[in-house]
Amino acid sequence: MNFKLSEEHIMIRDAARDFARTELLPGVIERDEKQHFPDDLVKKMGHLGFMGIMVDPKYGGSGMDAISYVLIMEELSKIDASASVIVSVNNSLVCYGLETYGTEEQKEKYLTKLATGEFIGAFCLSEPEAGSDATSQKTTAIDKGDHYLINGTKNWITSGGRADVYIVIAQTDKDKGSHGINAFLVEKGTEGFHVGPKEDKLGIRGSDTHTLQFNDVKVPKENRIGVNGSGFRFAMKTLSGGRIGIAAQALGIASGAYELALKYSKERKAFGTEICNHQAIAFKLADMATDIEAARHLVMKAAWEKDQGLSYDYSSAMAKLYASKVAMEHTVEAVQIHGGNGFVKEYHVERLMRDAKITQIYEGTSEIQKIVISRSLLRD
Ligand code: CAA
Repeated sequence: MNFKLSEEHIMIRDAARDFARTELLPGVIERDEKQHFPDDLVKKMGHLGFMGIMVDPKYGGSGMDAISYVLIMEELSKIDASASVIVSVNNSLVCYGLETYGTEEQKEKYLTKLATGEFIGAFCLSEPEAGSDATSQKTTAIDKGDHYLINGTKNWITSGGRADVYIVIAQTDKDKGSHGINAFLVEKGTEGFHVGPKEDKLGIRGSDTHTLQFNDVKVPKENRIGVNGSGFRFAMKTLSGGRIGIAAQALGIASGAYELALKYSKERKAFGTEICNHQAIAFKLADMATDIEAARHLVMKAAWEKDQGLSYDYSSAMAKLYASKVAMEHTVEAVQIHGGNGFVKEYHVERLMRDAKITQIYEGTSEIQKIVISRSLLRD
């Protein structure tokens, strides 16, 4: 067993770290405060190959592995979890799904642009009454011969107002349950497709989250992804990989907060010494470092299993469950170590604490991860 990163992986991690520190950091507080989407930075991340990390170079991607993906996600998330969720959704939920299940024509038309950052992608599964209970889709896609007609509402869609292409999961045959669901590619601007108001969120405020409305949206037959009835499996497989990305995001948020707390504790003095010399603080740092390292092992193992072509539903759920818990708990501790300064925006940890919460909610809540894990335990 080799825990050492290769030279190539170290180079990739350092490139992401450098980009995060020089490009993401300067405006991150303002973007959070004003809810500004990082348009220019997304373009730059596209040029660096971060928008299609695992996509085959023949479709414009970087052809890297899942280990590289989590290294990049961790580094971006240490600084700006809003930027990293745009990267994660584009890579895991949109590019992966399209590359794995799409037709050659769909890949030529959409993937080549999504992988380079020319297009931004969105993944539309959640609905007002179907977030965790993903088979209870109310959005319908009626087969009209040469096209489908989509009607319904999708909620909490990342990049909802900024995307160029949307993967929309909809019910085509209610009687068939999870086998009566399909995934469709819908282009921005299609008649009947409306973007609702932007959500005013607790965290990841620089990302763009909307409700979407579909009123008789006509989608050509060739825009269905995969064989008829495969949409639910498509969504579940795609989300399994997405959970590796969000686990890496949570890991980055936790390690970013830990690094800030460690630095602060070595500078701030109280009772005649730097606060890191007080056991109350030193023990907090020890707990943080240990839990973050454990989370990193889970995230890396899930990514490694994906790279090896092994099943990763169980390991990605476990990585997301644990890393998001660590992110939430230890960003709170990072604020505590900063004392009053931790409550102030310029010290960054309050933002990381707010950003951490969503990692326990999106791409399946912690409770959903426990369903996936326990089902796997009981099946084996
Ligand atoms: N891979 C392949 N197939 C799978 C699968 C997987 N990982 N998981 C389930 N399936 C298949 C099952 O094998 C089953 O197929 P058969 O009928 O042929 O046996 C079928 O799908 C139905 O499976 P279940 O009965 O297990 O379905 P369920 O409704 O009970 O679902 C669940 C299980 C794990 C709770 C699932 O609904 C789930 O993951 N829910 C959470 C959804 C979610 O993550 N929502 C957030 C969405 S997106 C988001 O956050 C977007 C963003 O912008 C960031």
